[in-house]
Amino acid sequence: MKNETPTVTYRKDYTPTEYLISKVDITFELDATATKVTARSKLMRNSAFQNPVGTLVLDGNDLKLLSVSVDGESLEESQYTVSEQGLELSDLPESFALEIVTEINPTENTSCMGLYKSGSTYCTQMEAEGFRRVTYFLDRPDVLSVYTTTIIANGSEFPILLSNGNRISSERIEDGRTKVVWNDPFPKPCYLFALVAGDLGKVVDSFTTKSGREIALEIYVDKGNEARCAHAMDSLKRSMRWDEEVFGLEYDLDIFMLVAVDTFNFGAMENKGLNIFNSLYVLADPDIATDRDYLAIEGVVAHEYFHNWTGNRVTCRDWFQLTLKEGLTVFRDQEFSGDMNSRPVQRIMDVKTLRERQFPEDSGPNAHPIRPESFIEIDNFYTPTIYEKGAEVIRMIHTLIGAEKFRRGIDTYFELFDGQAVTTDDFVHAMSKASGYDFSKFLHWYSQAGTPHVVIQGEYDAGSKRYKLEVRQELPETPDGAEKLPYEFPLALGLISEDGRELSFVHDGVEESSAKLIVSDAVQSFTLENVAEKPIPSLFRHFSAPITFDFEYSDSDLITLLKSDTDPFNRFDSSQRLAMRYLLRFVEDLRNSREVELPAELHVAYRGLISEKSWRADPALVAEALIVPTESAIIESLPIAYIQEVCEARKLFRESVAKGLQGELLPLYEVLKRETSGEYKPTSEAMAARKLKNAVLGYLSLIDSEQVESQFYDANNMTDQFSAFVLLCKRPELERAEYVNHFYNQWKAHSRVIDKWLAAQASSPAECTLDVVQALEAHEAFSEKNPNRVRSLYGAFGSNFLNFHRKDGAGYKFLAGKVIRIDSLNPKLGAGLAKLFARYRKLPQESKELMGAELGRILSTEGLSKGTYEIVSKTLGK
Ligand code: TRP
Ligand code: ZN
Repeated sequence: MKNETPTVTYRKDYTPTEYLISKVDITFELDATATKVTARSKLMRNSAFQNPVGTLVLDGNDLKLLSVSVDGESLEESQYTVSEQGLELSDLPESFALEIVTEINPTENTSCMGLYKSGSTYCTQMEAEGFRRVTYFLDRPDVLSVYTTTIIANGSEFPILLSNGNRISSERIEDGRTKVVWNDPFPKPCYLFALVAGDLGKVVDSFTTKSGREIALEIYVDKGNEARCAHAMDSLKRSMRWDEEVFGLEYDLDIFMLVAVDTFNFGAMENKGLNIFNSLYVLADPDIATDRDYLAIEGVVAHEYFHNWTGNRVTCRDWFQLTLKEGLTVFRDQEFSGDMNSRPVQRIMDVKTLRERQFPEDSGPNAHPIRPESFIEIDNFYTPTIYEKGAEVIRMIHTLIGAEKFRRGIDTYFELFDGQAVTTDDFVHAMSKASGYDFSKFLHWYSQAGTPHVVIQGEYDAGSKRYKLEVRQELPETPDGAEKLPYEFPLALGLISEDGRELSFVHDGVEESSAKLIVSDAVQSFTLENVAEKPIPSLFRHFSAPITFDFEYSDSDLITLLKSDTDPFNRFDSSQRLAMRYLLRFVEDLRNSREVELPAELHVAYRGLISEKSWRADPALVAEALIVPTESAIIESLPIAYIQEVCEARKLFRESVAKGLQGELLPLYEVLKRETSGEYKPTSEAMAARKLKNAVLGYLSLIDSEQVESQFYDANNMTDQFSAFVLLCKRPELERAEYVNHFYNQWKAHSRVIDKWLAAQASSPAECTLDVVQALEAHEAFSEKNPNRVRSLYGAFGSNFLNFHRKDGAGYKFLAGKVIRIDSLNPKLGAGLAKLFARYRKLPQESKELMGAELGRILSTEGLSKGTYEIVSKTLGK
């Protein structure tokens, strides 16, 4: 390797800083290539620091230093050191005023971190370590300061000049420039700092808090998009109300601003009082947004808003504590969405995300605990584990102590820690204090990686009417090689009779129809009394713990649960278990060149599922149950990733269902088509009907294509049109050209639809896909500098099992080249693409060799970012 091995940061090495920064006055004189930043800070010794020596090391990256002064005295070059890390000062007094002037180049900054340009708009992204690209600073979350921000810019070019907090003044100064001053009274870490300057459209509204304060709400978007902000604004107001009602949390500034930009590395960012969003998560109207988009906007707007308390008012002591704010805030936005929409459907979708994205991470080379022990690049740890598994851990606390005590725990958390930078232990301490629950064993969820596997055995004794359950935990090995201790988790269950009735039982002396067992040992037994007959257990209801489990269900047990379980999540899950069983069998059969076949009972079960009575009762659940586990989920259940066979198995399974249900699918589709034909509405009921219709269309497309084509042309909304488009994109290039062109010409003015257009083509299983993707790179719609486009084209290709894992290795070669290229422009995005190689060690030997060579090529690239280095070296197991 030509590069130096980057340094590793360890959680155990945390120490407070020698100085704290109480106040920052920061002035930006905006200029496209030479923005001048003057930062005047008040520093004082941190009482938490032992043995002070009067030195300060300020972080800095890509900065041109113009001057440094301490207490008004300008320093000579000999009085400070500028190193790779930043700026070092010594012989400093107890407290002092520091002024640093730097120059930065926002136009050349393609990293989307620090101050950069999205089109003609200046914007910032500081989390995690972007502030050091603006000025030399203590760029870490445990340094909290009050910021006053001055922005000086050409007033006619940039009429909108925004920063955190309240606008203090705005005036015209010399040569047509405007000077605007903002002040944020709440002390905050620098990662929550934000600045926006542009010529943007503005949508205003207001919200009256429960204590009667009126909050100004402002959404800023590219001019012409104002009419597309209604759903985001409405979601914001509902989030504000919900947080007051459910958690008693009221907004704390007089103004809340949200800005949408097109060039953004992630979903959105919770900067204090000035959230900045990827425009994907703001703009919606029925023509261009799918049902999924509507839900995502609602969820992301809520997520960022909820951070105002969980993240901003109480923040993280260090980045190892990231799940403190992210896991908790995801839990909060999931709960919000559950209350706004259908709770069971929300739960199913959240668990699907966890299984498809977090489980593979937890079994792969980048497996890490929700509170990691070390990192090379913190940006690599904004992961499904920190976010989604983190939310599941919070949810288990909620389940273990109940909603009421959980709420008291949240109150205690703010009583104890408001205005501070704290740890996950502090959070659990608050929960424990409020509930009296002993979390000492539960804490293993914070320190251990890997998805636990739970094996359950049931034994019914007809004589004593006892049902005994034995629960055994199997704890997987992870790359850190750490010894694993058993976890504590809630096992929510119920019992169903063989003919589908709910059975009551006695647990802990109380008669119940459902129970919450608390598992905490490696092997543990539970006995349920007064069980009238041999039950089928419904286990881990509502997915009460983020685990996988085995129980010896027969096919007919699963079919009974699918039909009759009173827990909607487990009805869904039985469908997945049943399908998975045959999918895995198919993979085995294909590997041994045996005929694959679905037994008649499965066809009967699916027919029952789509019977009028069944789907009318719960169309969304039936839709989810009809969708068989994804390739990613199947691979998780296999010791070796036989990609081709997995894809073939899934295809054959779906074809078999489609053929078996031939007589029912078309009539059902016609009914649903009629019932969804009115004006588009993104309500839960309408979404459920569309979801079912499009699931049915997916099966129908395997036996008959007419409906797909007509739905593509006739749809009055993007959900329906895009569902059809994805199916059409599976066809060979020539057969789909007409639709591809039509869709492009219809929507080319809308960047978010163009992202979908790119992704649908890059996701196609058709053989031409790599050629198509390469041709699309040259298309006018593509730009390697726009993260959304990169994710849509390269990201979708890397998630395309058949084509990325082509036997000839061309998919690996292509994507490795893209990792290298994108890494040089935008390291965070490059590292994100590199994660698509994570199945390396699970591949069959030949593929593994081909991929390994490409990973080696990435790793030996000169100037590779430390983030991409970290991902690739871990993937290779170095
Ligand atoms: N904190 C943000 C959130 O959870 C996400 C975030 C972290 C982010 N790092 C980022 C967003 C970098 C954009 C760029 O909502
Ligand atoms: Zn977040």
